Amino acid sequence: MTKPIRAKISALGTYVPPRLLTNADLEKMVDTTNEWIMTRVGIRERHVVDKGVATSDLAVEAAKQALAQGGRAPTDIDAIIVGTVTPDMLFPSTACLVQHKLGAKGAWGFDLSAACSAFIYSLQVGAQFIAGGLHKRVLVIGADVMSSIIDYTDRATCVIFGDGAGAALLEPAEDDSVGLIDYIHEVDGSGGCYLYMPGGGSLHPSTRQTVDQKMHYVHQDGQQVFKFAVRKQTELCQKLLERNGLKGSDIDAFIPHQANLRIISATADRLGLRPESVIVNIERYGNTTAGTIPLAMGTALEEGKLKKGNLVMLASVGAGFTIGATLLRWAY
Ligand SMILES: CC(C)(COP(=O)(O)OP(=O)(O)OC[C@H]1O[C@@H](n2cnc3c(N)ncnc32)[C@H](O)[C@@H]1OP(=O)(O)O)[C@@H](O)C(=O)NCCC(=O)NCCS
Repeated sequence: MTKPIRAKISALGTYVPPRLLTNADLEKMVDTTNEWIMTRVGIRERHVVDKGVATSDLAVEAAKQALAQGGRAPTDIDAIIVGTVTPDMLFPSTACLVQHKLGAKGAWGFDLSAACSAFIYSLQVGAQFIAGGLHKRVLVIGADVMSSIIDYTDRATCVIFGDGAGAALLEPAEDDSVGLIDYIHEVDGSGGCYLYMPGGGSLHPSTRQTVDQKMHYVHQDGQQVFKFAVRKQTELCQKLLERNGLKGSDIDAFIPHQANLRIISATADRLGLRPESVIVNIERYGNTTAGTIPLAMGTALEEGKLKKGNLVMLASVGAGFTIGATLLRWAY
C-alpha cells in the first residue's frame, strides 16, 4: 500500500467584521455587567456584522487573505469546505457562494455542520483529499455569523458569541517534519438537548409561531455544556497525547476552541500544559463558533508563538455534542 500523503496548513487568513459589541454595550441591552462577563466567561468585546453581511462574506475575506499569503490564485483551488452553523441560507451551501464570490472556477465544495468543532472536522476531511493524492489544494474555512441566531434579550447567551471567520489552505507536506499528524473525533448526540437551535429545520419549519416562541435562536444549558466541555476535551487530548508518546508539556502551542476562559484554563491545567503554550484571544472576539480556532491560530502567529516545526494541539467541543482534538506540526 502506498503511504498516504501528509497534508499541511500552508497559509492562513482571518477576518472579523469591523463593528464592535462591547460589554459596555451589552450592559445597556440586558441585565449584566462587564465584571460578570469577564470573570465568568473572559470576554471583553466581540465583533458583529452590519445588516446584509453574511457568513459567506466573512469566509471570502478570510479565504482571499489565505490565498494571498500562500501565493495561490482562486483557480488553483480543488475544493472548498466551509464549517458553519450559520449558512447564508439552508441552500445553496455557503461553499457554493464562496466559490462564486472568490472566482474559484472548477473547484467543488460543501458545508460541514459540526458547530464549534466544524473547523477541525473540516481540516481532517480536507486532509483526506490530499492524503488520497486527488487534490493538491483544499481551502478549509470556519465561519459563523452568530449574531444572526442570538436573542439579544437573553443575557445567558448574548454575552458569549461573536462573528468571525478563518481560512486555512491545505497542501501536501514536503515531508513528515511538518503537517497534520493525528486526530481523534467523537460525537455524543445525547447532548443535543443542551445546545441547539430548534426552529427553521424540517422538524419545526419557520412559522409565525416558531418565531414568537423564539425557536430561531440559540438555546443553551450553560452548566451542562461547561461540564461536558472540560471533561471530554481533556479526555480526547489526553488520549491523543498518549498514543503519540507525548506529554502536555511537549506541546508548543495549544489552540483550543474559545468558548469560555474557564473551560480553556481547566483543560490546560488537567493536561499539564505550559501556561505560555496556551493560545487565548476570547477577550477580543468571544465565541465565533467555527471561526475560533483559525482566529486563534492568527493570534498565535501575531504573538510569535507559532514557528515552523512547532508541535501544535487543536481542541474543540461544540453543539451536538461534537468533540475533536488534532495534533500537527506547524509548516511555515
Ligand atoms: C454560560 C456560562 C457563562 C454561565 O456561567 P455559569 O457560571 O454556569 O453561570 P450560571 O448559568 O450558573 O448562572 C449563575 C447566575 O448568573 C446569572 N447570569 C447568567 N448570565 C448572566 C449575565 N450575562 N450577566 C449576569 N448574570 C448572569 C444567572 O441567571 C444565574 O443567576 P442566579 O444565580 O440568580 O440564578 C457558562 O455556563 C458557560 O460558559 N457554559 C459553557 C457555554 C459554552 O461554552 N457554549 C458554547 C459551547 S461551544
